[in-house]
Amino acid sequence: MTVLQDCINKKSNPNCIWLMRQAGRYLPEFRKIRSKNLNFINLCLNERLSSEITLQPLKRFGFDAAIIFSDILLVPHALGQNVKFKKNFGPILGNLNIDEIHKINGDDFTKKLSPVYNAIKKTKLSRELKNKDLIGFVGAPWTILVYMLNKKSPKKKCLKNIFRDNKLINNLLKIIEKFLKLHIENQIKSGATIIQIFDSWAGLSNGRDYEKYVLEPTKNLVNFVKSKNTPVICFPKGISDYKKYVDIVSPEVISIDYDVNPEQIAKSIDITIQGGLNPNFLLGSKSELKNNVKKYLDVFKNKQYIFNLGHGVLPNTDPNMVEYLVELVKNYK
Ligand code: CP3
Repeated sequence: MTVLQDCINKKSNPNCIWLMRQAGRYLPEFRKIRSKNLNFINLCLNERLSSEITLQPLKRFGFDAAIIFSDILLVPHALGQNVKFKKNFGPILGNLNIDEIHKINGDDFTKKLSPVYNAIKKTKLSRELKNKDLIGFVGAPWTILVYMLNKKSPKKKCLKNIFRDNKLINNLLKIIEKFLKLHIENQIKSGATIIQIFDSWAGLSNGRDYEKYVLEPTKNLVNFVKSKNTPVICFPKGISDYKKYVDIVSPEVISIDYDVNPEQIAKSIDITIQGGLNPNFLLGSKSELKNNVKKYLDVFKNKQYIFNLGHGVLPNTDPNMVEYLVELVKNYK
Protein backbone atom coordinates (compact mmCIF):
# COMPACT_ATOMS: atom_id res chain seq x y z
CA MET A 1 0.00 0.00 0.00
CA THR A 2 0.98 3.63 -0.43
CA VAL A 3 1.52 6.11 2.43
CA LEU A 4 -1.58 8.08 1.52
CA GLN A 5 -3.79 5.00 1.38
CA ASP A 6 -2.38 3.72 4.67
CA CYS A 7 -3.28 7.07 6.19
CA ILE A 8 -6.78 7.00 4.67
CA ASN A 9 -7.34 3.39 5.81
CA LYS A 10 -6.22 4.29 9.35
CA LYS A 11 -3.43 1.73 9.15
CA SER A 12 -0.88 4.31 10.20
CA ASN A 13 -0.47 8.01 10.56
CA PRO A 14 2.62 8.84 8.52
CA ASN A 15 3.70 12.43 7.93
CA CYS A 16 2.54 12.57 4.34
CA ILE A 17 2.46 15.54 1.99
CA TRP A 18 1.52 16.59 -1.52
CA LEU A 19 0.38 20.03 -2.69
CA MET A 20 -2.43 21.26 -4.90
CA ARG A 21 -0.83 22.84 -8.00
CA GLN A 22 2.47 21.21 -7.09
CA ALA A 23 3.21 21.05 -10.81
CA GLY A 24 3.01 24.56 -12.13
CA ARG A 25 4.26 28.05 -12.62
CA TYR A 26 6.46 28.36 -9.52
CA LEU A 27 8.81 25.73 -11.03
CA PRO A 28 11.40 27.00 -13.54
CA GLU A 29 11.33 23.62 -15.31
CA PHE A 30 7.56 24.02 -15.83
CA ARG A 31 7.92 27.61 -17.05
CA LYS A 32 10.51 26.48 -19.59
CA ILE A 33 8.07 23.98 -21.11
CA ARG A 34 5.17 26.44 -20.84
CA SER A 35 7.09 29.19 -22.69
CA LYS A 36 7.32 26.90 -25.72
CA ASN A 37 3.70 25.74 -25.41
CA LEU A 38 1.51 28.81 -25.46
CA ASN A 39 -1.78 26.94 -25.82
CA PHE A 40 -2.50 25.60 -22.33
CA ILE A 41 -5.19 23.11 -23.40
CA ASN A 42 -2.84 21.64 -26.01
CA LEU A 43 -0.17 21.34 -23.34
CA CYS A 44 -2.58 19.40 -21.10
CA LEU A 45 -3.33 17.19 -24.12
CA ASN A 46 0.33 16.49 -24.86
CA GLU A 47 0.77 13.13 -23.15
CA ARG A 48 4.57 13.18 -23.13
CA LEU A 49 4.83 16.70 -21.69
CA SER A 50 1.95 16.38 -19.23
CA SER A 51 3.52 13.21 -17.85
CA GLU A 52 6.89 14.96 -17.58
CA ILE A 53 5.31 17.96 -15.80
CA THR A 54 3.43 15.64 -13.41
CA LEU A 55 6.73 14.14 -12.29
CA GLN A 56 8.71 17.41 -11.99
CA PRO A 57 7.70 18.14 -8.37
CA LEU A 58 8.27 14.51 -7.34
CA LYS A 59 11.80 14.58 -8.70
CA ARG A 60 12.55 17.81 -6.87
CA PHE A 61 10.80 17.36 -3.54
CA GLY A 62 9.87 13.67 -3.19
CA PHE A 63 6.18 14.35 -2.52
CA ASP A 64 4.14 11.32 -1.41
CA ALA A 65 1.76 11.53 -4.35
CA ALA A 66 1.56 12.92 -7.86
CA ILE A 67 -1.48 14.67 -9.33
CA ILE A 68 -1.87 14.32 -13.06
CA PHE A 69 -1.08 17.55 -14.93
CA SER A 70 -4.38 18.48 -16.52
CA ASP A 71 -7.21 20.94 -15.81
CA ILE A 72 -10.81 20.78 -14.66
CA LEU A 73 -11.79 22.82 -17.73
CA LEU A 74 -10.81 20.04 -20.14
CA VAL A 75 -14.34 18.73 -19.57
CA PRO A 76 -16.11 21.79 -21.06
CA HIS A 77 -13.47 21.65 -23.82
CA ALA A 78 -14.35 18.01 -24.55
CA LEU A 79 -18.05 19.01 -24.56
CA GLY A 80 -17.32 21.38 -27.41
CA GLN A 81 -17.19 24.67 -25.51
CA ASN A 82 -14.12 26.66 -26.47
CA VAL A 83 -11.68 27.16 -23.55
CA LYS A 84 -8.77 29.59 -23.72
CA PHE A 85 -6.38 30.79 -21.04
CA LYS A 86 -5.45 34.45 -21.19
CA LYS A 87 -2.24 35.51 -19.49
CA ASN A 88 -2.83 37.24 -16.13
CA PHE A 89 -6.58 36.78 -16.50
CA GLY A 90 -7.40 33.08 -16.39
CA PRO A 91 -9.83 31.01 -18.41
CA ILE A 92 -12.18 32.40 -21.04
CA LEU A 93 -14.90 30.07 -22.29
CA GLY A 94 -16.79 30.40 -25.55
CA ASN A 95 -20.48 30.14 -26.30
CA LEU A 96 -22.44 27.33 -24.77
CA ASN A 97 -24.55 25.30 -27.15
CA ILE A 98 -26.73 22.86 -25.22
CA ASP A 99 -28.12 21.20 -28.36
CA GLU A 100 -24.60 20.41 -29.55
CA ILE A 101 -23.66 19.05 -26.12
CA HIS A 102 -26.64 16.70 -26.24
CA LYS A 103 -25.22 15.20 -29.44
CA ILE A 104 -21.87 14.25 -27.85
CA ASN A 105 -21.58 10.61 -26.95
CA GLY A 106 -19.26 8.90 -24.50
CA ASP A 107 -16.91 7.60 -27.19
CA ASP A 108 -16.37 11.09 -28.67
CA PHE A 109 -15.67 12.45 -25.21
CA THR A 110 -13.24 9.67 -24.29
CA LYS A 111 -11.44 10.02 -27.60
CA LYS A 112 -11.00 13.77 -27.16
CA LEU A 113 -9.46 13.32 -23.71
CA SER A 114 -7.48 10.17 -24.55
CA PRO A 115 -4.14 12.04 -24.18
CA VAL A 116 -4.98 12.58 -20.49
CA TYR A 117 -5.60 8.86 -20.03
CA ASN A 118 -2.44 7.97 -21.93
CA ALA A 119 -0.47 10.42 -19.78
CA ILE A 120 -1.78 8.65 -16.66
CA LYS A 121 -0.74 5.25 -18.06
CA LYS A 122 2.69 6.58 -18.97
CA THR A 123 3.23 8.31 -15.62
CA LYS A 124 2.26 5.18 -13.69
CA LEU A 125 5.26 3.37 -15.18
CA SER A 126 7.83 5.85 -13.86
CA ARG A 127 10.11 4.89 -11.01
CA GLU A 128 9.24 8.11 -9.11
CA LEU A 129 5.74 6.70 -8.60
CA LYS A 130 6.78 3.38 -7.13
CA ASN A 131 4.55 2.82 -4.07
CA LYS A 132 3.00 6.26 -4.49
CA ASP A 133 -0.46 7.37 -5.55
CA LEU A 134 -1.29 9.03 -8.81
CA ILE A 135 -4.21 11.35 -8.12
CA GLY A 136 -6.73 11.84 -10.89
CA PHE A 137 -9.25 14.65 -10.56
CA VAL A 138 -12.36 16.42 -11.78
CA GLY A 139 -14.09 19.68 -10.98
CA ALA A 140 -17.33 19.20 -9.04
CA PRO A 141 -20.47 19.50 -11.18
CA TRP A 142 -21.36 22.87 -9.62
CA THR A 143 -17.92 24.41 -10.26
CA ILE A 144 -17.90 23.18 -13.87
CA LEU A 145 -21.39 24.60 -14.32
CA VAL A 146 -20.27 27.98 -12.94
CA TYR A 147 -17.44 28.18 -15.49
CA MET A 148 -19.63 27.00 -18.38
CA LEU A 149 -22.31 29.60 -17.65
CA ASN A 150 -20.14 32.47 -16.38
CA LYS A 151 -17.47 31.82 -19.04
CA LYS A 152 -14.74 33.14 -16.78
CA SER A 153 -13.71 33.04 -13.17
CA PRO A 154 -16.47 34.47 -10.93
CA LYS A 155 -13.61 36.24 -9.15
CA LYS A 156 -13.23 38.44 -12.23
CA LYS A 157 -16.90 39.07 -12.68
CA CYS A 158 -20.00 37.11 -11.89
CA LEU A 159 -22.61 37.73 -14.55
CA LYS A 160 -26.01 38.54 -13.16
CA ASN A 161 -28.95 36.29 -13.95
CA ILE A 162 -26.93 33.22 -14.83
CA PHE A 163 -28.26 31.41 -11.79
CA ARG A 164 -31.90 32.32 -12.46
CA ASP A 165 -32.68 29.71 -15.08
CA ASN A 166 -33.31 26.64 -12.95
CA LYS A 167 -34.32 24.51 -15.91
CA LEU A 168 -31.05 25.22 -17.70
CA ILE A 169 -29.05 24.57 -14.53
CA ASN A 170 -30.77 21.25 -13.85
CA ASN A 171 -30.42 20.16 -17.45
CA LEU A 172 -26.75 21.12 -17.61
CA LEU A 173 -25.90 19.61 -14.21
CA LYS A 174 -27.24 16.24 -15.37
CA ILE A 175 -25.09 16.26 -18.53
CA ILE A 176 -22.02 17.46 -16.63
CA GLU A 177 -22.48 14.75 -14.01
CA LYS A 178 -22.73 12.06 -16.66
CA PHE A 179 -19.49 13.10 -18.37
CA LEU A 180 -17.63 13.68 -15.10
CA LYS A 181 -18.42 10.08 -14.18
CA LEU A 182 -17.02 8.91 -17.49
CA HIS A 183 -13.92 11.09 -16.99
CA ILE A 184 -13.43 9.61 -13.51
CA GLU A 185 -13.92 6.07 -14.77
CA ASN A 186 -11.42 6.59 -17.61
CA GLN A 187 -8.82 7.99 -15.22
CA ILE A 188 -9.23 5.07 -12.81
CA LYS A 189 -9.02 2.54 -15.67
CA SER A 190 -5.79 4.21 -16.81
CA GLY A 191 -4.22 3.93 -13.36
CA ALA A 192 -5.32 6.84 -11.14
CA THR A 193 -5.42 5.42 -7.59
CA ILE A 194 -7.20 8.29 -5.80
CA ILE A 195 -9.70 10.84 -7.18
CA GLN A 196 -9.92 14.43 -5.93
CA ILE A 197 -13.04 16.49 -6.60
CA PHE A 198 -12.32 20.24 -6.75
CA ASP A 199 -15.32 22.37 -5.85
CA SER A 200 -13.62 25.75 -6.02
CA TRP A 201 -16.91 27.66 -6.18
CA ALA A 202 -18.92 25.64 -3.64
CA GLY A 203 -19.05 28.81 -1.52
CA LEU A 204 -20.81 30.73 -4.27
CA SER A 205 -24.06 28.88 -3.90
CA ASN A 206 -26.26 29.49 -0.89
CA GLY A 207 -29.63 28.74 0.59
CA ARG A 208 -31.56 25.76 -0.70
CA ASP A 209 -29.64 25.66 -3.97
CA TYR A 210 -26.59 24.53 -2.03
CA GLU A 211 -28.12 21.14 -1.29
CA LYS A 212 -29.48 20.67 -4.77
CA TYR A 213 -26.61 22.07 -6.78
CA VAL A 214 -23.55 21.38 -4.64
CA LEU A 215 -24.18 18.53 -2.21
CA GLU A 216 -26.37 16.18 -4.27
CA PRO A 217 -24.42 16.13 -7.55
CA THR A 218 -21.12 15.80 -5.67
CA LYS A 219 -22.51 13.00 -3.54
CA ASN A 220 -23.48 11.19 -6.75
CA LEU A 221 -19.88 11.45 -7.97
CA VAL A 222 -18.50 10.32 -4.62
CA ASN A 223 -20.74 7.25 -4.68
CA PHE A 224 -19.59 6.55 -8.21
CA VAL A 225 -15.89 6.69 -7.21
CA LYS A 226 -16.62 4.46 -4.22
CA SER A 227 -18.27 1.91 -6.52
CA LYS A 228 -14.89 1.69 -8.29
CA ASN A 229 -13.17 0.87 -4.97
CA THR A 230 -11.12 4.04 -5.15
CA PRO A 231 -10.72 6.59 -2.34
CA VAL A 232 -12.06 10.07 -3.00
CA ILE A 233 -10.94 13.43 -1.63
CA CYS A 234 -13.36 16.38 -1.71
CA PHE A 235 -12.20 20.01 -1.69
CA PRO A 236 -15.23 22.26 -1.31
CA LYS A 237 -13.71 25.73 -1.11
CA GLY A 238 -15.43 28.52 0.77
CA ILE A 239 -18.26 26.60 2.45
CA SER A 240 -19.35 27.40 5.99
CA ASP A 241 -20.31 23.99 7.38
CA TYR A 242 -17.77 21.25 6.75
CA LYS A 243 -19.45 18.85 9.17
CA LYS A 244 -22.71 18.92 7.25
CA TYR A 245 -20.83 18.52 3.97
CA VAL A 246 -18.95 15.45 5.27
CA ASP A 247 -22.12 13.93 6.76
CA ILE A 248 -24.01 14.22 3.50
CA VAL A 249 -21.37 13.80 0.79
CA SER A 250 -19.34 11.25 2.78
CA PRO A 251 -15.95 11.18 1.02
CA GLU A 252 -12.94 9.28 2.44
CA VAL A 253 -10.98 12.53 2.81
CA ILE A 254 -12.02 16.16 3.25
CA SER A 255 -9.62 18.88 2.10
CA ILE A 256 -10.06 22.13 4.02
CA ASP A 257 -9.36 25.66 2.82
CA TYR A 258 -7.33 28.30 4.65
CA ASP A 259 -10.37 30.16 5.99
CA VAL A 260 -11.41 27.27 8.21
CA ASN A 261 -10.49 26.99 11.85
CA PRO A 262 -8.48 23.73 12.05
CA GLU A 263 -9.29 23.19 15.75
CA GLN A 264 -12.98 23.16 15.02
CA ILE A 265 -12.49 20.73 12.15
CA ALA A 266 -10.39 18.42 14.35
CA LYS A 267 -13.13 18.41 16.96
CA SER A 268 -16.10 17.87 14.65
CA ILE A 269 -14.85 15.62 11.83
CA ASP A 270 -13.79 11.98 12.03
CA ILE A 271 -12.66 11.14 8.51
CA THR A 272 -9.15 11.79 7.13
CA ILE A 273 -8.44 15.51 6.84
CA GLN A 274 -6.22 17.15 4.25
CA GLY A 275 -4.74 20.62 3.78
CA GLY A 276 -5.50 23.97 5.35
CA LEU A 277 -2.27 25.97 5.38
CA ASN A 278 -2.58 29.33 3.65
CA PRO A 279 -0.36 29.21 0.51
CA ASN A 280 0.69 32.79 1.35
CA PHE A 281 2.89 31.42 4.15
CA LEU A 282 5.18 30.03 1.45
CA LEU A 283 5.83 33.63 0.38
CA GLY A 284 6.98 34.81 3.84
CA SER A 285 9.83 33.95 6.17
CA LYS A 286 10.99 30.45 7.10
CA SER A 287 10.25 30.97 10.79
CA GLU A 288 6.68 32.08 10.12
CA LEU A 289 6.19 29.11 7.81
CA LYS A 290 7.59 26.77 10.45
CA ASN A 291 5.25 28.07 13.17
CA ASN A 292 2.20 27.72 10.98
CA VAL A 293 3.09 24.27 9.66
CA LYS A 294 3.58 23.16 13.26
CA LYS A 295 0.19 24.58 14.16
CA TYR A 296 -1.58 22.34 11.61
CA LEU A 297 0.51 19.27 12.48
CA ASP A 298 -0.13 19.76 16.22
CA VAL A 299 -3.87 20.24 15.79
CA PHE A 300 -4.17 17.09 13.66
CA LYS A 301 -1.61 15.03 15.58
CA ASN A 302 -4.15 12.46 16.75
CA LYS A 303 -6.17 12.42 13.52
CA GLN A 304 -5.57 10.89 10.11
CA TYR A 305 -4.01 13.90 8.34
CA ILE A 306 -2.52 14.50 4.89
CA PHE A 307 -0.50 17.70 4.77
CA ASN A 308 -1.47 20.06 1.93
CA LEU A 309 -2.35 23.72 1.44
CA GLY A 310 -5.71 25.46 1.75
CA HIS A 311 -5.56 26.23 -2.00
CA GLY A 312 -2.97 25.81 -4.77
CA VAL A 313 0.72 26.81 -4.66
CA LEU A 314 1.00 30.44 -5.82
CA PRO A 315 3.04 31.20 -8.97
CA ASN A 316 5.46 33.53 -7.12
CA THR A 317 6.46 30.85 -4.58
CA ASP A 318 10.19 30.19 -4.16
CA PRO A 319 10.81 26.44 -4.76
CA ASN A 320 13.30 26.54 -1.83
CA MET A 321 10.40 27.30 0.49
CA VAL A 322 8.52 24.25 -0.83
CA GLU A 323 11.61 22.15 -0.18
CA TYR A 324 11.75 23.53 3.36
CA LEU A 325 8.05 22.78 3.86
CA VAL A 326 8.52 19.12 2.87
CA GLU A 327 11.45 18.88 5.28
CA LEU A 328 9.35 20.37 8.12
CA VAL A 329 6.52 17.90 7.56
CA LYS A 330 8.80 14.86 7.18
CA ASN A 331 10.84 15.70 10.30
CA TYR A 332 7.84 16.47 12.51
CA LYS A 333 7.59 14.24 15.56
O1 CP3 B 1 -2.53 20.50 -9.04
C1 CP3 B 1 -1.80 20.23 -10.00
O2 CP3 B 1 -0.57 20.43 -10.01
C2 CP3 B 1 -2.41 19.51 -11.18
C3 CP3 B 1 -2.89 20.32 -12.25
C4 CP3 B 1 -4.07 21.26 -12.07
C5 CP3 B 1 -4.18 22.47 -12.80
N1 CP3 B 1 -5.40 23.01 -12.55
C6 CP3 B 1 -3.14 23.00 -13.69
C7 CP3 B 1 -3.17 24.42 -14.07
C8 CP3 B 1 -5.24 21.14 -11.30
C9 CP3 B 1 -5.61 20.08 -10.28
C10 CP3 B 1 -6.07 22.24 -11.64
C11 CP3 B 1 -7.42 22.42 -11.07
C12 CP3 B 1 -8.18 23.62 -11.41
N2 CP3 B 1 -8.22 24.29 -12.62
C13 CP3 B 1 -9.12 24.24 -10.55
C14 CP3 B 1 -9.49 23.77 -9.16
C15 CP3 B 1 -8.53 24.25 -8.12
C16 CP3 B 1 -8.53 25.73 -7.91
O3 CP3 B 1 -7.52 26.35 -8.28
O4 CP3 B 1 -9.50 26.26 -7.36
C17 CP3 B 1 -9.66 25.35 -11.24
C18 CP3 B 1 -10.69 26.33 -10.72
C19 CP3 B 1 -9.09 25.35 -12.55
C20 CP3 B 1 -9.36 26.30 -13.66
C21 CP3 B 1 -8.17 27.11 -13.98
N3 CP3 B 1 -7.05 26.62 -14.63
C22 CP3 B 1 -7.92 28.46 -13.69
C23 CP3 B 1 -8.89 29.38 -12.96
C24 CP3 B 1 -6.66 28.79 -14.20
C25 CP3 B 1 -5.98 30.14 -14.28
C26 CP3 B 1 -5.57 30.72 -13.02
C27 CP3 B 1 -4.74 29.83 -12.16
O5 CP3 B 1 -5.22 29.50 -11.05
O6 CP3 B 1 -3.63 29.44 -12.56
C28 CP3 B 1 -6.11 27.60 -14.73
C29 CP3 B 1 -4.77 27.46 -15.35
C30 CP3 B 1 -3.89 26.42 -14.83
N4 CP3 B 1 -4.26 25.15 -14.46
C31 CP3 B 1 -2.47 26.53 -14.65
C32 CP3 B 1 -2.02 25.29 -14.20
C33 CP3 B 1 -0.60 24.89 -13.92
C34 CP3 B 1 -1.64 27.76 -14.99
C35 CP3 B 1 -1.34 27.75 -16.42
C36 CP3 B 1 -0.36 28.79 -16.83
O7 CP3 B 1 -0.78 29.94 -17.01
O8 CP3 B 1 0.80 28.46 -17.00
